[in-house]
Amino acid sequence: MNNKMEKVISLAKQRGYVFQSSEIYGGLKSAYDYGPLGVELKRNLMNEWWRSMVHEREDVIGIDASIIMHPKVWNASGHLSGFSDPLVDCLISKERFRADKAPTPTSGDELPITCNDKGQAKQYQKSIEKRFGIKIRRNGKVLEGLRVIDDSTFGYFEKDSDDANQTFPYRGYVSPTFGSPFLSDERQFNLMFRSQLGPVDSIGDLTSFIEKNPDLKGKELRKGIEKVIKDTAVYLRPETAQAMFVQFLNCQQSMSMKVPFGIAQMGKSFRNEITTEHFIFRSCEFEQMEMEFFVEPGTQKKWLDYWRDKRLNWWKSFANNPDKFIYRAHDRDELAHYADACYDIEYEYPWGFDELEGVASRTDYDLKKHAEHSGAKLSYFDPQKQDPQTGKNGWRYTPFVIEPAAGATRGLLVYLLDAYHEETVQDAKGNDSIRKVMKIHPKLAPIKTAILPLVKKEGLPEIARDIVSNFFKAGINTKYDEQHAIGKRYRRHDEAGTPFCLTIDGQTKEDGTITIRDRDTMKQDRIPAEKALEVVKTRLGVV
Ligand code: GAP
Repeated sequence: MNNKMEKVISLAKQRGYVFQSSEIYGGLKSAYDYGPLGVELKRNLMNEWWRSMVHEREDVIGIDASIIMHPKVWNASGHLSGFSDPLVDCLISKERFRADKAPTPTSGDELPITCNDKGQAKQYQKSIEKRFGIKIRRNGKVLEGLRVIDDSTFGYFEKDSDDANQTFPYRGYVSPTFGSPFLSDERQFNLMFRSQLGPVDSIGDLTSFIEKNPDLKGKELRKGIEKVIKDTAVYLRPETAQAMFVQFLNCQQSMSMKVPFGIAQMGKSFRNEITTEHFIFRSCEFEQMEMEFFVEPGTQKKWLDYWRDKRLNWWKSFANNPDKFIYRAHDRDELAHYADACYDIEYEYPWGFDELEGVASRTDYDLKKHAEHSGAKLSYFDPQKQDPQTGKNGWRYTPFVIEPAAGATRGLLVYLLDAYHEETVQDAKGNDSIRKVMKIHPKLAPIKTAILPLVKKEGLPEIARDIVSNFFKAGINTKYDEQHAIGKRYRRHDEAGTPFCLTIDGQTKEDGTITIRDRDTMKQDRIPAEKALEVVKTRLGVV
């Protein structure tokens, strides 16, 4: 793993941003808990999104829908079929991949297995000999001699020979990374988490079904089982978006919204990801911030550009390095089937540029699909407009949709990476030391101010607690901290991303002043204690 990533993961645990889920039991793969600082950072990030998308706009309203929706929603949206991928394992490298996306060499094609290096090639060579009984030729890091014979067979050929030494069943494709044709059976994976609604245990129903039908096998058995569980099967939502389509009419009518308008939602989504990677970048349980913006057909391009720029600038506005945020247009062959255009807002992670948010022009696909499956009339009537077909006043149409869909937990990772800084500073003895500091934007910082009495005596804690209580009343997340020497406390709050430390010292009792220390510059100013709240509010940008 990349060095910076390792440092951020380690600090995230040490300081209470993100923990591995159920760590004391060995941890649950790809599930994470947001600790005391992480929960604050995530909430601040999501609240800022809500402020910018809902509170500061007249044309966007919010909802908070159920995570479990009617199973027909997922039929209509295509998730029940589209989220079921045929997956295969390479028996040699253990790589797991989607069968429908794998390379497909045809009759007569050579099937070289290209390894990362010679050592790996030797290892795979041994494994093939042990498992399949062929002494495959090696040329450096490439294993040679395999060739496609026909649609369903491949063979191993000695050098310059046209007769196969040995033949094997061919699946029609090879593993994407190494090109191996030694593959497991295809297995169906469903990316949606399935559960059941109702207290009756479906395992009981399944057991009696299987007992009553002992002759059923394979596909027939699967079909029967699916029928038994179908009535109670429900799914955890894999995206927050569908609720906005399903509640389009209720929202539009209850709030008398006029197109163009948007419906926003943020919250948990769940996906049984094939690969979980890069810490919280891709996990099975995560949070999204999505908005469906309904527009008149024909205006989608203008609105797509508008939301792309708006969202990119929003991400940049909290960043130390705004240049690390870019947008990238999807190529035609990358577009989801429902989209006529799409941009990814990307961040330069330690492994390179990768997705942070998608801004998609989803056409009228979703509303039309839900109208078709539910029978509801999911359209909009504009009395001011002429119907372009009839030329008459008043136009009923299915709105097109622009969807900015962001990951909140992925955004949190981005801002942890953006915030992480190491600086060489001099300690009290004049020696160089490394200061780790999380330069988190003050609006997102988990703790806004730390109030620190220099010593735990001489009335300083009492003065400090008075200031703390003022800050509490003003709704500013503040921590009282008297543990350890002052230098250590500053370092602790540097790593917590606390923008300001207020220190109460001997002079406070003489002239009523305290120091305010800036996290990023480490500069300290003396200010009147009674003005502390006002100064901090101004510096935080909340007045
Ligand atoms: N409604 C469209 C939609 O869900 P998506 O590109 O699949 O689109 C949107 O997801 C955003 O959600 C992504 O850009 C990413 O930030 C976040 N996201 C998606 N899958 C994720 C996962 N497994 N873990 C963390 N974040 C994820």
